[in-house]
Amino acid sequence: MCGIVGIVSNKSVSSSIINALKKLEYRGYDSAGISTLNNGIIEEKKCSGRVENLEKILFENPSSGDLGIGHVRWATHGVPNQINAHPHSTEKVSVVHNGIIENSDKLKMEYEKKGYKFKSQTDTEVITIILNDYLKSEDLINSIHKTLNKLVGSFALGVIFKDFKDIVVGARRGSPLAVGYGHNENFIGSDSYALKSMTNKISYLDDGDFCILHKEKVEFFNSNKQKINKEIFEVSNEDNVADKGDFKDFMSKEIDEQSNTTKKCINEYLDKSRDEINIYNIPIDPLKIKKIRLIACGTAYHSCLMAKYWIEELTSIDVEADIASEFRYRKVKLNKDDLYIFVSQSGETADTYAALEKCKKNGVKTCGIVNVVESSIARLSDFVLPIHAGPEIGVASTKAFIGQMLVLFLLILKISKDRNDIDQKEFKKIIEDVKKIPNLIKLTLTKQNEIQEIARDFIDAKGTMYLGRGYSYPIAMEGALKLKELSYIHAEGYAAGEMKHGPLALIEDGMPIVVLAPKDRFFEKTISNMQEVIARGGKVLMITNDTSETLSENIRFKFQIPDAHPNISAFLLTIPIQFLAYHVALLRNCDIDKPRNLAKSVTVE
Ligand code: M6R
Repeated sequence: MCGIVGIVSNKSVSSSIINALKKLEYRGYDSAGISTLNNGIIEEKKCSGRVENLEKILFENPSSGDLGIGHVRWATHGVPNQINAHPHSTEKVSVVHNGIIENSDKLKMEYEKKGYKFKSQTDTEVITIILNDYLKSEDLINSIHKTLNKLVGSFALGVIFKDFKDIVVGARRGSPLAVGYGHNENFIGSDSYALKSMTNKISYLDDGDFCILHKEKVEFFNSNKQKINKEIFEVSNEDNVADKGDFKDFMSKEIDEQSNTTKKCINEYLDKSRDEINIYNIPIDPLKIKKIRLIACGTAYHSCLMAKYWIEELTSIDVEADIASEFRYRKVKLNKDDLYIFVSQSGETADTYAALEKCKKNGVKTCGIVNVVESSIARLSDFVLPIHAGPEIGVASTKAFIGQMLVLFLLILKISKDRNDIDQKEFKKIIEDVKKIPNLIKLTLTKQNEIQEIARDFIDAKGTMYLGRGYSYPIAMEGALKLKELSYIHAEGYAAGEMKHGPLALIEDGMPIVVLAPKDRFFEKTISNMQEVIARGGKVLMITNDTSETLSENIRFKFQIPDAHPNISAFLLTIPIQFLAYHVALLRNCDIDKPRNLAKSVTVE
């Protein structure tokens, strides 16, 4: 993961680098650092922890210089301390790196034999040393090219040099790198969002490319050192502002936004006058699709699991959902008649991207469902459906999850209708339900205080389970993921019917358990499983749209979601499980937007 930035300008760059790093902190917050070239000397400053720590250092001891690089780290090789923080510099070269150099140990040994000493435990420092070494005998372009050729793994790099006083170099293989164009200044950054306050004119490096930023121009080279031209994109300013407003943290803001984001998404895809879904040019004629394969990681994978249930229910198409880190290495039989759907909020997740690349190499048709439309996954996919959720900053995915489910649901409905798997009447009925989603979410959001109360039951729990059947099962998995990543309490999402095959042994007196039981065709069965848990001492938080009083005496708390068709209950079940994770984490004084050990965008495998 990690975030990198580089600027060459006609004015001091350190404050712009710091601002860009703040925007990149979603990619890692283990350490932060900056190098500038000041009067021909590389000045490196770095620290463990957040960008605000680096800011304090610069406040006491400012960095000058009109070119520089910066870094925020998500530790892979070496503990997250000051020595392992980037940049990694010699007197001649300073490097920031996002990704993993897989052959770093071998390279380290090779260069130690040549007499080089390494200061850090990182895989990155070898890049600095190799480049430094080549520069003794080669010109700049050859030094860069030869260095890159020695590296195995994935990287995006930013480099400054003592002896090349007016350039910043960028390079990409596997990890994304955007180039921004300004007036008498140019930039590199891990994404366009980091550069947005400085420019909206962006190009992207492709794998193997490197670039040289000058104040007035940018030169691009491919992996054969040949000069190449790059298309310049204008990125939209619409989603420029990502601030917390009056909210305590981004996560609570993003949960609260979900009524609006779903409304916006529905407006983008639904022609309300004709009740038609505006999704055209699906890369395989829906009538000919044999199978749909959904591939993603984490929360996005849970949206795929949800889609699996919908596809089975609403179409005659075979379906599979896969975790990207498994899919990319499995000997999956890729078929030209199958549609491969990749879901990712960031559009940069390394495993999802690699799985997409595998499909592209095999010539099968791909569809990307992303939040960041300028992302690598969006650019590589044959067909892209944005979720229109706006920037999601909290590491725990909330509004993106709802957006992913919504776009998947609309796509499935469209395919189902085009294939005549669903009749016109049923289609219209479901469309009416879809239109209700934003308001039903709004209603559910008003009940936050109920969850705030019940959250107290969880704060000292050794562990908990989220149980559901059918459409509620993927939401149970998502609920458990949310709780563990935010509050560090062990949680499992389980198919309620599977409890008796082992996990029931975990239930002990007073253990809090979440049961998702909307009134659908699984309701009675879920209730039986819930009773089995209660009988063993489980303290149940039941989330349901059932209004009968009969069950109430046995359960600890019943959270009522609005009544809705089972097809869309997933959207409503999601709100209380987000609130629960949020409030438990808050009560346990956890960092809501930046949970420990995690990062927003996972650009390493
Ligand atoms: O950007 P992506 O949607 O590809 O990210 C995938 C996962 O890393 C992500 O959903 C992760 O599981 C979230 N932090 C969960 O809240």
